[in-house]
Amino acid sequence: MKKQMTATVSWVGKVDWELTKFHGDEYSTHKGSTYNSYVIEEGKTVLVDTVWKPFAKEFVDNLEAEGLLGKLDAVIAQHAEIDHSGALPELLRRRPDLPVYCTANGIKSLKGHYHQDWDFHPVKTGDEFDLGNGKKLVFVEAPMLHWPDSMFSYMTGDAILFSNDAFGQHLATERLYNDLVDQDELYDECVKYYANILTPFSALVKAKIEQVLSLKLPVNMIATSHGVIWRKDPTQIVLKYMEWCQDYKEDRITILYDTMWEGTRALADEMARAIQEASPSTTVVSHCLSKFDKNDALTDVFRSKAILVGSPTIGKGILTAVAGTLEEIKGLRFKGKKAAAFGCYGWSGESVKIIGDALRESGFEVVDEGIRALWNPDTDALKAARDYGKAFAAKVK
Ligand code: FEO
Repeated sequence: MKKQMTATVSWVGKVDWELTKFHGDEYSTHKGSTYNSYVIEEGKTVLVDTVWKPFAKEFVDNLEAEGLLGKLDAVIAQHAEIDHSGALPELLRRRPDLPVYCTANGIKSLKGHYHQDWDFHPVKTGDEFDLGNGKKLVFVEAPMLHWPDSMFSYMTGDAILFSNDAFGQHLATERLYNDLVDQDELYDECVKYYANILTPFSALVKAKIEQVLSLKLPVNMIATSHGVIWRKDPTQIVLKYMEWCQDYKEDRITILYDTMWEGTRALADEMARAIQEASPSTTVVSHCLSKFDKNDALTDVFRSKAILVGSPTIGKGILTAVAGTLEEIKGLRFKGKKAAAFGCYGWSGESVKIIGDALRESGFEVVDEGIRALWNPDTDALKAARDYGKAFAAKVK
């Protein structure tokens, strides 16, 4: 139900405690999520975004129960993805006269999703919506943050930046604000969100943040479309994004692998130990991709200066958990990271070359030809893996 944020701005979204997967089955949401929708009640009454489709009726019923449905003068659709636009069909079924403000690309996407000819009003960067009482909404297009249609809306007076997906995180909470939740949990979800969704668009993130900062607007709150509202030191997440969008890396090495008969795993374990011994300051993590959460693994890749990826050879190829993750890594277009490949084999042994080539194609600097072990690694092969791990730590220092 409605939660008051300022005298005239309220949250009217939905907390989804049950959500475990997002974007179909692509993104794990261990801590659920929220779909944040806001209502502004000035001279005009305006809704900013809606909620995901399964909650459409509940959402519009709530607006009606709060006496808002009949009062609305406009809806701002900042992004057409279904988690924010999913209640538009129900809303506009019950209020067919309601004008919809969105970008030109938003009109295309909304028509593409819903095949409706609503009363669309395209907006561009700098366009304003007069809220009355001397306040207005100023629109800022934010293409590819993270869809072509995405935009921000800035409310003057209350100084609220409605940022849609940007600066959000998948964190279900009834506590509305950043200062009321566990900070480690919050930042874990923020970096996972950036790593898995925004990484490919980092150059655009940087340019958009610089553009918004150059306006020198006061910002009391950043009201995102997922998770908490940033009210305490709201620029903290903007500064984090500025770090994350510039080839971000920590002193961290991530090992990703899958294994059939424990040989490739043995190589991974030996290398993890050797890297840690050779470089005590480095955080070393190792994930078996068929067992570990893929999105958490990708978050570790995002945080790493270098990765090692391993698979045994199977049928002249590699194991599917590794192949799938490499496909995601390719799409995320990480920059400024080093890598190498490893794996066991029984006869032809193509896996290390396949992985090395995939990493190179994905923009990694592959530091050498990697390491292979024939059959199950014996004492000598395990020692070779330790030596390799030690050398790798030095190469990526
Ligand atoms: Fe939260 Fe791009 O939708």
